[in-house]
Amino acid sequence: MYGVAERIYACFRQAEHFTLKEAYATQEDTPRESVRARIYENLGIRFERIAKGLYKTKDGAASCIVIEGDGRDLSMIADASIDCIFTDHPWLDIKSNRGGNRFFSRYDCFQYTSDDFKEKARVLKDGCFLVEVLPAENESNYEYLYAIKQYAKQNGFEYYAKVAWKKGAFVSNTGRKSKNTQDIMIFSKGPARKLRIDKKQTAKNGILTYMRGTNGMLPTMFDVPPVNPRNKIHQSELPVALCESIISFVTLTGEIILDTFAGSGAVGEAALNLCRNAILIENAKNSVIKICNRLRSILAFEPCFEAES
Ligand SMILES: C[S@@+](CC[C@H](N)C(=O)[O-])C[C@H]1O[C@@H](n2cnc3c(N)ncnc32)[C@H](O)[C@@H]1O
Repeated sequence: MYGVAERIYACFRQAEHFTLKEAYATQEDTPRESVRARIYENLGIRFERIAKGLYKTKDGAASCIVIEGDGRDLSMIADASIDCIFTDHPWLDIKSNRGGNRFFSRYDCFQYTSDDFKEKARVLKDGCFLVEVLPAENESNYEYLYAIKQYAKQNGFEYYAKVAWKKGAFVSNTGRKSKNTQDIMIFSKGPARKLRIDKKQTAKNGILTYMRGTNGMLPTMFDVPPVNPRNKIHQSELPVALCESIISFVTLTGEIILDTFAGSGAVGEAALNLCRNAILIENAKNSVIKICNRLRSILAFEPCFEAES
């Protein structure tokens, strides 16, 4: 979940400094001792002490690289260097998209092949999670959705979980059946890393012990409304709150998240909010510009921008 330290970081990221009293005021539902403890244990990570009782968020606590390029070509990324891939590929499914031209994609689309998963497996560290945002299953895409799982398996990924994203009260009435969900498909590269606290062993041995799996048990669904169309900067923009929830389950502070088809950059914003680093790849120049503007407005420093020559 979005922890206390992360919330305090988000509140004061743009402030010159803050006091404990100011931090308490932003976290009214959390006991003061917990707020203080979270700040102390994050000194040097998210926060710095600049004088007695005065703190600031740590500069460059997280960074984001935006690359204008082909997210299917990861040759510039080193082997086993990424802690999580979180992506929503521009899946080609003309039939499902039919039913009102507002649903036709206004960007390049394609279908994954096994090679896409070979590259993802190459750059991801062992045990780390691959999160694929997928369309709800229907009569025209079920074979493709099955093929995606096969490609993943062929390249060393294990099926970890599939969690529905329920889009609040929003209902799309295209196709044969009204829909208000998509699927969040989570794979691990080989056996999952250990992010989950083993409560039994921890209680038995008195030492914090972890077992394989995500940071906490995944919910039955993520119930998050879609982005209000009036505020959207991209046709398929994911809500930041959804991305933050998912990122908290599959990564730790300071880790690197790769989004190969970044669209609006929502995954990047969520990563920065949670003190994770992000690498965003997007091939549409207009979207890259929007991502940079978005990140510029939430960061105190300039996003690092690498344009394809
Ligand atoms: C489904 S959208 C991603 C939406 C994104 N998750 C968000 O929250 O805004 C897919 C994006 O992939 C981009 N795209 C399509 N083909 C690409 C490619 N080969 N490499 C990089 N980006 C690509 C499209 O321009 C589009 O912005």
